[in-house]
Amino acid sequence: MKTIIEPFRIKVVEPLRMTSPEERAGYIADAGYNLFKVSAAKVLIDLLTDSGTSAMSFHQWAGVMRGDESYAGSESYYRFEESVKDIFGFKHVIPTHQGRAAERILFSVMCKPGMVVPNNTHFDTTRANIEVQGTQAKDIPIQAYYDPATRHPFKGNMDTRLLRELIDDTGRDRIPLVMLTLTNNSGGGQPVSMANIREVKSICDEHGIPLYIDACRFAENAYFIKLREEGYADKPLKEIAREMFSLADGCTMSAKKDGLANIGGFLCTNDDLLAQQERNLLILTEGFPTYGGLAGRDLEAIAIGLQEALDEDYQQYRIVSTAYLGQHIAEQGVPIIQPPGGHAIYIDAGAMLPHIPSSAYPGQALAVELYRHAGIRSCEIGSVMFGKPDPATGKEIPAALELVRLAIPRRVYTQSHIDYVIEAILEVHERRDRLRGYRIVRQPEFLRHFTAEFEPL
Ligand code: F0G
Repeated sequence: MKTIIEPFRIKVVEPLRMTSPEERAGYIADAGYNLFKVSAAKVLIDLLTDSGTSAMSFHQWAGVMRGDESYAGSESYYRFEESVKDIFGFKHVIPTHQGRAAERILFSVMCKPGMVVPNNTHFDTTRANIEVQGTQAKDIPIQAYYDPATRHPFKGNMDTRLLRELIDDTGRDRIPLVMLTLTNNSGGGQPVSMANIREVKSICDEHGIPLYIDACRFAENAYFIKLREEGYADKPLKEIAREMFSLADGCTMSAKKDGLANIGGFLCTNDDLLAQQERNLLILTEGFPTYGGLAGRDLEAIAIGLQEALDEDYQQYRIVSTAYLGQHIAEQGVPIIQPPGGHAIYIDAGAMLPHIPSSAYPGQALAVELYRHAGIRSCEIGSVMFGKPDPATGKEIPAALELVRLAIPRRVYTQSHIDYVIEAILEVHERRDRLRGYRIVRQPEFLRHFTAEFEPL
């Protein structure tokens, strides 16, 4: 059989409320044309993020009922620790309420002003948590990353020549750690190859620098390695994941992605001294080291979810269904980041709407129209999110790319939902020359995309 089906059946359903384009035109105007301000009940298909939006399995819900809510030494913690160690293999496992809490603790302990942290591409919370320490966050992806249309099997890789140059120029003492983000979210959910992880690790070893992995989508990365890298076709996903992590000294993790949980995260390290300092910080703001800001039931859901993410049938469905959306719109001429990534499809709104300049936010125009037309919520990742005023002239410097991300929640939508999304995108694409840009009428000083208000031009 060549049809790949959702490898689950549905036990609990969450009704969707249908709305008309006229109603949605009103809702989005009331929200200042900002999709973050639209109530979720008024969204039909929510592709804002794949983070914390997974459907849990009945095994996970059964685990929730088993949650041990003891303050110290909870049984749920030990099951969580065992599951994490089974896959990740690190000596110390520190639970946190989500990924960014693990980042904050790691960088507070390891980074000092004037230091530099290289990464294939930092996710925005990772960058912010590094910069708040007075440390520079440096992105060094391979060249293919910068061209949306270029196909590369491991477009998430780090440029190892640039890593060597950076270490030579900066000096080993000013690089507290190197990071690799698997998969590279900001670059389109693109995987990193085992060969690249291995090469980065060997450069780190030459200079005595620890390597940490941002492991949010580790299982999707492992599946891409199985599909695309020589020598891995017959290896179980867990073995591939273990090999990836055996090359690192620690990791940060948001269990809201490949933990298949609605909340949670963790920080791992092999370094005893660092682990002690990290646990001290954890107690200050997250909680005691056997719960770290999570309920026992969350720890249970994560323990089970991490293992389910490595199920091969699940990953096949996951990667094929994301690619299905990407291929069907790309075939009809919609420009996307190629090849389709693991967790999301990124439409190149700058290329799709060449008549709308960056200063009029083509990504925002497309995202708002997808909502108005079909009730689909996506996320602008362009000049609304990353545009910055030029300190000299006050004029805005646009982002490098004007993208719209359609992130696919795990195990939530069926193929007919995705067919609906495809139809909607193609209909908007047909009349793309009639879309108009936006102007910002109100914005805060930081992270403006969450709260800014817009007006159509
Ligand atoms: N690292 C990466 C690569 C991420 O994609 C995210 C979150 C984080 C770290 C932070 O984890 O949200 O649990 O604190 N990404 C979400 C997204 C928010 O929509 O891509 P968190």
